Amino acid sequence: MSTEGQRVAVVTGANRGLGYAIARGLAEQGLHVVLTARSEQAAEQAAAKLRGEGLSVSSHQLDVTDPASVARAMADTGFTYGRLDVLINNAAVAIDRGQAASTVDMEKVRATIDANLMGAWRCCTAAIPEMRKIKYGRIVNVTTHMSTFGQMGTGSVAYRVAKTGLNALTCILAAELHDQNILVNAASPGKVDTRLAYGKAEQSPEEAADTFAWLATLPDDGPSGQLFYRREALAW
Ligand SMILES: NC(=O)c1ccc[n+]([C@@H]2O[C@H](COP(=O)([O-])OP(=O)(O)OC[C@H]3O[C@@H](n4cnc5c(N)ncnc54)[C@H](OP(=O)(O)O)[C@@H]3O)[C@@H](O)[C@H]2O)c1
Repeated sequence: MSTEGQRVAVVTGANRGLGYAIARGLAEQGLHVVLTARSEQAAEQAAAKLRGEGLSVSSHQLDVTDPASVARAMADTGFTYGRLDVLINNAAVAIDRGQAASTVDMEKVRATIDANLMGAWRCCTAAIPEMRKIKYGRIVNVTTHMSTFGQMGTGSVAYRVAKTGLNALTCILAAELHDQNILVNAASPGKVDTRLAYGKAEQSPEEAADTFAWLATLPDDGPSGQLFYRREALAW
C-alpha cells in the first residue's frame, strides 16, 4: 500500500472503543493510521475491518506497559513510512472503580499508573525523535473530566491520579516542544459508550472521536498544552 503524501498516525489501544473510532476518524481525514493493540491479532483484525471500508490502515502490536514493544512500534513506523506525524495516547485501564485513596489496593495503583501515565509517557519519548526528524508532530492524550481539579472526588482514585499526571505531562511536553512544531494537547471524551464507560454514556465513540481527529490535524499555529472537550478548551 502506498502512503506517499499522507501523514502517518499511531493510535494506541485502537482495537476497540474510542481508539478504534479515532483510528477511523483519522483515516477518513486522509491520514495513514497505524492501528495498534497489545494483541497483534486484535490489531490486525481491527485494521482489516477499516481497510475493508477503503481506509488506509495498517496494524502493529503495541503494549504500552512494555518498553521494548513501544520502541519497536514507533521505530518500525518511522522506518516503514519514513515519518510519524501523529500520536494518539488512547490506551488505558480502569481497574480501581469504587476504590478510596485511604484503603486502595496499591497493586492496582501501580498497574494503573504504569498503563495510563507511564504508558503514554513511554510512547511520547519513543515517538518524539521520529517527529523531530520531520519537524512536525501532534500528540493527543486521552484524559477525563475526572482528572480535573474542579471535578476531583473519590472513587477510581488510581485512574484519577494517573490521568492527572497525564495532564501534567501534556503541559510539560508542550512547553518543551513549543518551538519544534510539535503540539501536545489533551482531550476528555466525556462519557462514551464503550466497555470502560463511567456512568451513562453521553455520546458514541464516533461522536467523541471528532475532537481527537481535530487536535491531530491542528495547523502549526494551533493551541498546545491545553485540555479540550468537544473542541472547546476547559480549565485543568
Ligand atoms: N468511555 C468513557 O466514558 C471514557 C471517559 C473518559 C475517558 N476515557 C478514556 O478513553 C480512552 C479509551 O477508552 P475506552 O472508553 O475506549 O475503553 P475500552 O473500550 O476499554 O478501550 C481501552 C483500550 O485500551 C487498551 N489497552 C489497555 N491496556 C493496554 C496496554 N497495556 N497496551 C495497549 N493497549 C491497552 C485496550 O486493549 P485490550 O482490548 O487488549 O484490553 C483497549 O483497546 C481511555 O484513555 C479512557 O481513559 C473513556
